[in-house]
Amino acid sequence: MKFKGYFRTVVFAIAVFATLWYILDLTMIDLVEQPLVVLGLAILLIAILFNGKIVNNLRETRANNLTNQERNSKNNWYKSLMKILTNSKPIEQEDDILLEHAYDGIRELDNDLPPWWIYSFYISIVFAFGYLTYYHVMDGDDQTTEFNKEMAQAKIDVDEYKKTAKNLIDATTVELMTEEADLASGKTIFAEKCVACHLADAGGSIGPNLTDEYWILGGGIKNVFNTVSEGGRDGKGMIPWKAELKPGEIAQVSSYILSLQGTTPAKPKAAEGDIWKAEEVEVIENVEE
Ligand code: HEC
Repeated sequence: MKFKGYFRTVVFAIAVFATLWYILDLTMIDLVEQPLVVLGLAILLIAILFNGKIVNNLRETRANNLTNQERNSKNNWYKSLMKILTNSKPIEQEDDILLEHAYDGIRELDNDLPPWWIYSFYISIVFAFGYLTYYHVMDGDDQTTEFNKEMAQAKIDVDEYKKTAKNLIDATTVELMTEEADLASGKTIFAEKCVACHLADAGGSIGPNLTDEYWILGGGIKNVFNTVSEGGRDGKGMIPWKAELKPGEIAQVSSYILSLQGTTPAKPKAAEGDIWKAEEVEVIENVEE
């Protein structure tokens, strides 16, 4: 009968544990990363185990000890808890478990192993089975794998963030965009705002030809971004577009313009400015350093 009671309690504890594990969506790594979770679960488990024991114990007390009113005083709860935790014999009964031998007068009591210890031991066995199954049978991720997975996920998250945070860029950080969607948006912006002076094929009329390798204000994504954002030289007619376009849009339209490099417009305007080569900038930057 007694065993049945314990068994029920242990099964109940495991069920609660498993449910929490599922609800909180825990993984083995959480146990390492969040010791508080472990502590909480452990306390809960022990509480359930001892609660079960207390219930059993109270039943027994009621059945056997109804006459003893004193034992039902306030102190009883604490005493019964300590009894449950240690399962030690009261001092009056110690004669029963006193072992025969004596060492220089020191005698030994043959107490049972304390239940707190035994239950911790049982829990560790159950845990070991879970651990073994997870890591060695189901081939769960070890720490290195989990780390690599998290790093990979973090990289995805950062890329995702950068996509939604396109407007954080400026002329120093802008990169040439090559994705279809960005170039398509750039084309739309160009058609709306820029064709009046640069023509639809970017061959140039009031503004210069944008398809050749000659640039008045510098080529490459960073210079073009800067020109579109800050405008051309005073009085030439190219206004700063930063008031009208977001940084992301400026990057899109600049990338679109650069995607037209080498195309042949119907009536290309004569080249203005100098041939621009990407390497030159790097050389200059190196010299500055
Ligand atoms: C009102 C006419 C006008 C409009 C509209 C206009 N531009 Fe310009 N654009 C110019 C002129 C004029 C220049 C030459 C500026 C200079 O010489 O300093 C220029 C220069 C440029 C340059 C630099 C070319 C070089 O050789 O360095 C780029 C890039 C450019 N425009 C892109 C754009 C984009 C993108 C738009 C639309 C968002 C736009 N422009 C709208 C007139 C215009």
